[in-house]
Order: sequence, then structure tokens, then C-alpha cells
Amino acid sequence: MTSRTAPVILTGDRPTGPMHLGHFVGSLRNRVAYQNEFRQYIMIADAQALTDNMDDTGKVSRHVIEVALDYLAVGIDPKKSTIFIQSQVPELAELAFYYLNLVSVARLERNPTVKEEIRQRGFERDIPAGFLTYPASQAADITAFKASLVPVGEDQIPMIEQSNEIVRHFNRIAEREVLVEAKALVPPLGRLPGIDGKAKMSKSLKNVIHLNANPDEICAAVKKIYTDPLHLRIEDPGHLEGNVAFIYLDAFDPDPVGLAELKAYYVRGGLADSVVKARLETCLQDVLAPIRSRRQQFEKARGEVLQCLKEGTDQAREIAARTVAEVKSALGLTYF
Ligand code: TRP
Repeated sequence: MTSRTAPVILTGDRPTGPMHLGHFVGSLRNRVAYQNEFRQYIMIADAQALTDNMDDTGKVSRHVIEVALDYLAVGIDPKKSTIFIQSQVPELAELAFYYLNLVSVARLERNPTVKEEIRQRGFERDIPAGFLTYPASQAADITAFKASLVPVGEDQIPMIEQSNEIVRHFNRIAEREVLVEAKALVPPLGRLPGIDGKAKMSKSLKNVIHLNANPDEICAAVKKIYTDPLHLRIEDPGHLEGNVAFIYLDAFDPDPVGLAELKAYYVRGGLADSVVKARLETCLQDVLAPIRSRRQQFEKARGEVLQCLKEGTDQAREIAARTVAEVKSALGLTYF
């Protein structure tokens, strides 16, 4: 356990599907490192997932435990990180209720993350109010724990900016620093492209490799990986830009010197894609094998996993309740 004074990290995922290599590179493996340095809270954002899934609430609730299994499988240690379920911490909803008075509808409509997500979902004419206002809810998630660091992908930066606006507005009203501003922590190797070469690995694009893919699925995915369409004959010079096999090797190959040599050879010409892919397959099998086997162990102990979520959620509630008490007191809402 890190010391009580270590900087606080709040991070989380919407539980709407199984996690994949994109999540692993973009966040999961970083969290395994962060938990030794920081006081880390990891939130399974089921309540937020409902903002666009009210037609299929079962999908959300079913995936809560799956996401928890993925966390444990990659090595997130519940003794070091607090894993909790958002909907079971009502204090977060309570904070969001107050914060909603510190944001204007126009400002919410201008939030680039919200705008883009509305576009992706085709909500333009019919936005659920909870979806539009979820920056206030995300501000609640962050500030409840007084997080100063929030690891997110680039697309979420406007959410952190809006959360900080709420913090500053609140502190101005309170005339003291009740809430803490947070910094977005954007990983250097943020977004992994899909196996088809599209910018993002995403289950809706069907271009993912799942964290619990079996060896045959990994092998089949690697065969399909987009490389260099101009590299027709082995002796042709190959290109690295946009070449997914090399982008994945950058993310997973433990031997950077060997990889640099391989790249130089490919660019010179004379190196077959099949050789590159064979190396990538070995790397991916090596990365995913221990994750898969740990996941299978935890799957046999679902009761214990739920218990661990319960304990994490209890801990999270205690912290969030303290912040709610401070917020209400700053607003003069203390009567008894
Ligand atoms: N909005 C985030 C996502 O879509 C999930 C999330 C909810 C989150 N609350 C958060 C992330 C607070 C960081 C901090 O992935």
C-alpha cells in the first residue's frame, strides 16, 4: 500500500464489453505501474454507461464483473488499488447534483468529448439529458477522491478541463480550496490501431484482439493484421508508417534493439511480412498467456472477486462521503 500522502489517481472504464489490447496499452498496464507510486482508485463506471444504454441495462451490469476480472488478470492488485462500482457509491450522484448548478447547458453542449460522442451515437436530435450532463458526473467522480491525476486518452482531456472549471467555480463560492484540480495523464503510447489499420481498436469496428483471446484467436488475428500494402514482393522496400505489425511490436516487443534491426531490414527490403508477423505472434502470445491463465483462476473464484469489489466500494464510499460532507458544509447545508 502506498503512503497516505501519495498523489491520488482516479481512473475508470465503462463496463460495456470485454476488454482488449487497446485497453491494455492505453490504460491497464499503466495502472499496474501506477499502483506502486500513487493512491489509485479504479472505478467501474456502470452508472455512466447507462447514459447511453438504458435500452440494455443487462449488458452493463453483466460486464461489471467481467471488467473486474480483466483488472485482476492484468495484475491490478486490490491491496494496492481500490476497485469500486460507481452505482454503489451514491455520494457521487449527490455531488453531481450540486455540480450541475455550476455548468451551463451551453457549456455542456460545447464540450468536445460530449459533442463527438453525441455524433458517434447519432444522438443529435434526441440526447438523453444524463448523457449531455455527464461531465458534471465525471467531475464528481474525480473530485470525490480529491484526485490530482486522471489517466485518460486524449479524447477525454476536455472532460478534465470541464471538471477543473467546476472545481474552480466551487472553490470560489466556498472561498477556500475545498476541491482539488486534476491533471490529465495521457500515456505516451496512447491509442492502439485496430488490426485492420483503422486508427482505433474498437469492438464496434470488429478489429480487436481480446485480452482473453486464446492462442488460435491470437494467431488468426495476427495473420489478418494490416501491414504495408506497397510491400508486394519480399525484396521490395517496406514502410513502417501505419504498419500495424510494427506499431504492435513497438508496444509489445521486449527487445528494442532487435526490433530496431528488424525495422531497418524491412525498410531496406528482403524481409517477408510473415517473418515480422511470426515475431509479433510470439510477443503477443507471451504477453497474453499469463493474463489468460490468471483470468481463468479468478473466474473460478467469482464470489471472492465480488467480495473484493464490495470492499473496494465500501472504502470508496467512505472517502466520497467525507468530500460530500465538506461540500455540503461549504454550501451551508448543515442543519442537524
Ligand atoms: N468517461 C470515461 C470513459 O468513457 C469513464 C470515466 C467515468 C472516467 N468517470 C471517469 C474516467 C472519471 C476518468 C475519470 O472511458
